[in-house]
Amino acid sequence: MQYQELQNLKGCTVLVTGGAGFIGSNLCETLLEHDIKVVCLDNFATGKKENIVPFLLNPNFKLIEGDIRNLADCHKACEGVDYVLHEAALGSVPRSINDPITTNEVNISGFLNMLVAARDANVKRFVYAASSSTYGDHEALPKVEDVIGKPLSPYAITKYVNELYADIFYKTYQFDSIGLRYFNVFGRRQDPNGAYAAVIPKFVQQLMSHESPVINGDGSYSRDFTYIDNVVQMNVLAMTTTNREAINTVYNVAYGDRTTLLQLTNLLKKHLSEFDQSISNIEIKHRDNRAGDIPHSLASIDKAKKLLHYNPKYNINDGIKEAVHWYWEHLK
Ligand SMILES: NC(=O)c1ccc[n+]([C@@H]2O[C@H](COP(=O)([O-])OP(=O)(O)OC[C@H]3O[C@@H](n4cnc5c(N)ncnc54)[C@H](O)[C@@H]3O)[C@@H](O)[C@H]2O)c1
Repeated sequence: MQYQELQNLKGCTVLVTGGAGFIGSNLCETLLEHDIKVVCLDNFATGKKENIVPFLLNPNFKLIEGDIRNLADCHKACEGVDYVLHEAALGSVPRSINDPITTNEVNISGFLNMLVAARDANVKRFVYAASSSTYGDHEALPKVEDVIGKPLSPYAITKYVNELYADIFYKTYQFDSIGLRYFNVFGRRQDPNGAYAAVIPKFVQQLMSHESPVINGDGSYSRDFTYIDNVVQMNVLAMTTTNREAINTVYNVAYGDRTTLLQLTNLLKKHLSEFDQSISNIEIKHRDNRAGDIPHSLASIDKAKKLLHYNPKYNINDGIKEAVHWYWEHLK
């Protein structure tokens, strides 16, 4: 995808933390396609070398293997950098429940290290991955940026604290940032493996192996599933906007529609059966709801549309079609 907004960034350097992960590697790819210099800082905790192998031969790409919990690594990565896209974190609510201390160290102390290092290096803008989990126990739909509830997990606390720190860094050091509250992102390179895999890649892999996907609950819970290219678009817009009113705030990053788990699973079956007809006959199984899961999530994207001219190109059906294609080519 070509972005007119990135033409002005030729010759600039962008640091993508977590650049070997799912979202980070997609950001690196888009920036490199626009001849922008990219520094990737990653410790490969959940990211994978194979995600960045295609970039390693590009002279515009530099990999720094390091840890955001180490301030010296953050300072090194920020040298000569114009913009930061901060994606490095430990994702997953269940992981944070199993190991709140490590999640806190990476997602809060690591985040603070990155803010300090970016401020010290006079980075122009710090765009960071926030999360829809910040809406916590607030039940109103659609979710509007100003109205949040109490966090429901250690992970949600860390992502909310990120927003608070970013706000304080603007108020005390005039350091510019934008927070992007991602809603259930999916697409190419999202990891289907491991105990903390997200539902879409996990179900795709299971269906491709002719295993029954297991839905937590009756399948009526719904989410605002967001295709990766919509997320890339928001990062581009957040990094390049010249509208001062649009900076030092947070945005929902979503499509603005919700899909139940049952609808989602049927959509995956539909698109996968274009490659293997027998997948349409695979039975869907159910088990109890997972503790702490909220029933529904749906974003208002009005703020992003108004202030950043966000215009998501992929609805769930188009996004799932692209994602399934990619998994079929890469997992088979
Ligand atoms: N995927 C989603 O649906 C979603 C939703 C809301 C928020 N987010 C946030 O978006 C960001 C990217 O998520 P993702 O889905 O691409 O996850 P991911 O696990 O694929 O990517 C995270 C990357 O950060 C790296 N990392 C972890 N700890 C690190 C450390 N201490 N030092 C350096 N690098 C480290 C990992 O190795 C990995 O490459 C995260 O901040 C996540 O919390 C994601």
